Amino acid sequence: MSKRRIFVTSALPYANGAIHLGHMVEYIQTDIWVRFQQMRGNECHYVCADDSHGTPIMIRAEKEGITPQELIDKTKKEHQRDFQGFLVNHHKYHSTHSAENKELTSDIYLKLKSSGFIKEETISQSFDPEKQMFLPDRFVKGECPKCHAKDQYGDNCENCGTTYSPTDLINPYSVLTGATPIKKESLHYFFDLPKFETELKNWLKSANIQDTMRNKLQEWFIAGLQAWDISRDAPYWGFEIPEAENKYFYVWLDAPIGYFAAFKNLCVERNIDFEEFIKPDTQTELYHFIGKDIAYFHMLFWPAVLKGANIRQPTGVFCHGFLTVNGEKMSKSRGTFIKAETYLKHLRPEYLRYYFASKLSAKVEDIDLNLEDFRQKVNSDLVGKLVNLASRCAPFLTRLAGNKLSSELSDRSLFDLFAEKSEIIADYYEKREYSFAIKEIMNLADKANEYIDAEKPWVLAKEENKAEEVQKIATIGLNAFRQLIIYLKPILPQIAKDSEEYLKCGELSWEDVKKPFIDKELGIFKALLQRVEEKQIAAIISDSKEDLSKENNIGKKTDKKKTADSVENNTPSEIAIDDFAKLDIRIAEVLECEKVEGSDKLLKFKLNVGELGEKQVFSGIAKYHQPEELLGKLVVYLANLKPRKMRFGISEGMILSASNEENLQVLLASGRAKAGMRIS
Ligand code: 2FM
Ligand code: ZN
Repeated sequence: MSKRRIFVTSALPYANGAIHLGHMVEYIQTDIWVRFQQMRGNECHYVCADDSHGTPIMIRAEKEGITPQELIDKTKKEHQRDFQGFLVNHHKYHSTHSAENKELTSDIYLKLKSSGFIKEETISQSFDPEKQMFLPDRFVKGECPKCHAKDQYGDNCENCGTTYSPTDLINPYSVLTGATPIKKESLHYFFDLPKFETELKNWLKSANIQDTMRNKLQEWFIAGLQAWDISRDAPYWGFEIPEAENKYFYVWLDAPIGYFAAFKNLCVERNIDFEEFIKPDTQTELYHFIGKDIAYFHMLFWPAVLKGANIRQPTGVFCHGFLTVNGEKMSKSRGTFIKAETYLKHLRPEYLRYYFASKLSAKVEDIDLNLEDFRQKVNSDLVGKLVNLASRCAPFLTRLAGNKLSSELSDRSLFDLFAEKSEIIADYYEKREYSFAIKEIMNLADKANEYIDAEKPWVLAKEENKAEEVQKIATIGLNAFRQLIIYLKPILPQIAKDSEEYLKCGELSWEDVKKPFIDKELGIFKALLQRVEEKQIAAIISDSKEDLSKENNIGKKTDKKKTADSVENNTPSEIAIDDFAKLDIRIAEVLECEKVEGSDKLLKFKLNVGELGEKQVFSGIAKYHQPEELLGKLVVYLANLKPRKMRFGISEGMILSASNEENLQVLLASGRAKAGMRIS
């Protein structure tokens, strides 16, 4: 069969939050598929990027006192660190805030416009009169009109599931300022999706899509397609719309175009013909791996936009379900909302890659990470069956055979059995039925271990003149190990690499599974993997709870109402007295206090902290205190907080305050308190 030319993407993570294990399901699923394609000899390019635009990113940057550009640069580095940590090998990791994306988005929009697929309409939306900006649905909260639950988002009620628009909420408020939103009109641009109904139905006939999703799409067609609002008013963090004033592309228009932008960048780097991949009659293949929640964007808007702009459509869109941990939604308070970074502090990535693979299928089903099952499965399969097979054979060769394999396979039955499974296992990978692939592979691992059990090389090794026989058994065992490594290489790339080094066999490809590995000298055998211990899992949970308390501390100070990214439960996690002792809290006298130009949240302080001298602090409390109220007062000050560079200068330490959802009050000291005194 001729070499396939494939271009693969995973969904682009937003540039305002950390990667967690929920995200990793998709990146691991995709990475395995891409590595498999490459092992089969296909040309397969895997790109991704940070989804860097939109209101939440703009607001987040403002909250952190940095520019959106600074925020997206910082987040991109963290995301790339996490993906690399999990051995997810994006051939290009780009950003949607890139020159290529700006150009492609404008080109596509202008093509749509000149073909008559863009309509204009004046619409009325929620507007924050204090902040002077239109509010996305998630930035308006209020009482659910149906069940009267408080603090519900503007698009749907988390309590009773009703969907509505922000204007239906009772006592609505802006999550940014707490102000009551008003209605305001503005001109918007719409993509004429209904014009593409027939085209979309045609695309669906040939596209590689799961049946559940096909049915979902039928429901959407029956419900009727609506024109799609692709513009947002300033202030907005995104690309400006050409031939329009103060209008920006909605983040969801330029995000999927970001797939192409990232690939275009890679094409320049690798000297690939980009046009060949995107022309409408291309022979190349394009697959998107996504979560089920964003199917609407990828299976309706996106193929329609591409059709309208005369660009190739996806060959397939593969949806997966969500991740639960211990059978429940990931929870910050239970410590099961686990960041990629936190996991990697304690465990190797391949344990999780293997566990996810053992659960993944082509179905759009949620998968569960049961932490005890995880520990047992990786210990039993990876350590007990796979790595153990090599450890049971390697020492005999070193000790009795000059570290050399026999010159032939004295019995080919195990080898042939393993080789025969090549196409079945490949087919499972191709169809993303990884759990079935793993079942087959682990069956083989059992067979190999049964063979060693039956031959008992450790008994023979003690007898005279049995070295050659032992060498033959170990050679058969190590051939089986090598075949297992080939089959597992897409899932376990680092273990595969370490094994290739030990076997001195070069980079293993899928075809190598049919070639006996004999008459070779081996490298030095090192333990390939350790068991997962209960205490490592416990440490992940405990660190994840700590992540929560750090986050709570950031969110609480400045916000009158809960923000869009606030956490669902504030149960405090315990700390030891030593932890408390790390905080250097002092009394400080307010020498100067003033408003900060360009920020409606910040007050700038000059503090006298006794022996520590004078300090400058920015505090997001301008909504609650006038500068003159605090001048000359004694405040409570956290002195050893790492200084933070903010847009307006360096902030050294933090002024402590008490707050709830409604109000905030800076903590003041009186009586015998003096500047510089320590609080204990
Ligand atoms: O849902 C999300 O996390 C989006 N950032 C995914 C974008 S995928 C693509 F269309 F860009
Ligand atoms: Zn409700």
